[in-house]
Amino acid sequence: MNPSNFDPRQFRQALGAFTTGVTIVTTRGADGQDYGLTANSFNSVSIDPPMVLWSLNKDSSSAHAFTGSKHFAVHILATDQEHLSNRFAKRGTDKFADLTTTRGHDGVPLLDGCSARFQCRTTYQYEGGDHIILVGEVLAFDRFDSSPLVFHGGGYRRLLEPAATVDQSVYGDNWLGFLLGRAYYQMQLPIRQQLKAMGMSDLDFELLGMLSFGEGKTLTELRRLFEFVGKELLQEQLDTWVNKGLLIPETPVDGAQRIYFTEAGRQLTIEWLAFAKAAEMTALESLDYEEAQQLKLLIGRVIQQTGETLPAHWRKENIWQDNNLWQQPG
Ligand SMILES: Cc1cc2nc3c(=O)[nH]c(=O)nc-3n(C[C@H](O)[C@H](O)[C@H](O)COP(=O)(O)O)c2cc1C
Repeated sequence: MNPSNFDPRQFRQALGAFTTGVTIVTTRGADGQDYGLTANSFNSVSIDPPMVLWSLNKDSSSAHAFTGSKHFAVHILATDQEHLSNRFAKRGTDKFADLTTTRGHDGVPLLDGCSARFQCRTTYQYEGGDHIILVGEVLAFDRFDSSPLVFHGGGYRRLLEPAATVDQSVYGDNWLGFLLGRAYYQMQLPIRQQLKAMGMSDLDFELLGMLSFGEGKTLTELRRLFEFVGKELLQEQLDTWVNKGLLIPETPVDGAQRIYFTEAGRQLTIEWLAFAKAAEMTALESLDYEEAQQLKLLIGRVIQQTGETLPAHWRKENIWQDNNLWQQPG
């Protein structure tokens, strides 16, 4: 392909193969107004003297403000600032509304919460086709301890530690099933201990779990759920709960008996869920929000991949009901 018949969309897509961070560049216009836009064309130029550059679309509604101003500030956005990137990529809106800003050189608005920030004096402006290349000398910079937002292939991305830097051998085994199983049992341990202190057995605990996804299951349904995880649910077990006033069987005139929580049973389960949620928080303590989401996403993919032969009664849509206790305020 030669330049005259480039397809602009394909050209953009090819450029999108180059992974960048995301910045918001701000300035104060000659009219005293604040201007800013999202830009990923930012790059470093020189260490001594310290210089950076970015390119500005001539069609941008803030083009006149940047070309007419002697200063600008570049904010390298952090992972949790995607919403700001979107806001500053929208033309003509009041981008600074409700934002707390401080003032830098020449009154340029400075944003907080980013990964790094550079205050610059505009030293050169070059023609660059439909863009203007702005080169700035860095007058001051700040580095903050937050992970940067990443842009690739037209979408936002996150940084992930390369897996090779994680020493797998400390877990004793690198088999995925072992890792998932061990993580599960370790996470459960404090919950189990807590329940034991409340006089509950492992089976009680499992029963709570099954019913917390949705009460109103028949005994047969509960038994089949237990069977699949290699456990047996005995009638006596249910009777104990009923006798303790925690479960109540109800039999509709034309149907099979279904098992419900009593108010006391529901409260106990909500208490148990609070332990479970606390255990999750502890388990994820060494991960930041994004890593935790990624972990869940990846485990979700494994679940999807391995779920093809799952019996229908174990599928989420068949267990999880609107009356589940997980999505109710605890
Ligand atoms: C990730 C991302 C990167 C962008 N990079 C640039 C850039 O380097 N230069 C530019 O002029 N516009 C860039 N844009 C587009 C501007 O942010 C967008 O056109 C914005 O509406 C301009 O605002 P304005 O017209 O109010 O000045 C980018 C947008 C996004 C979402």
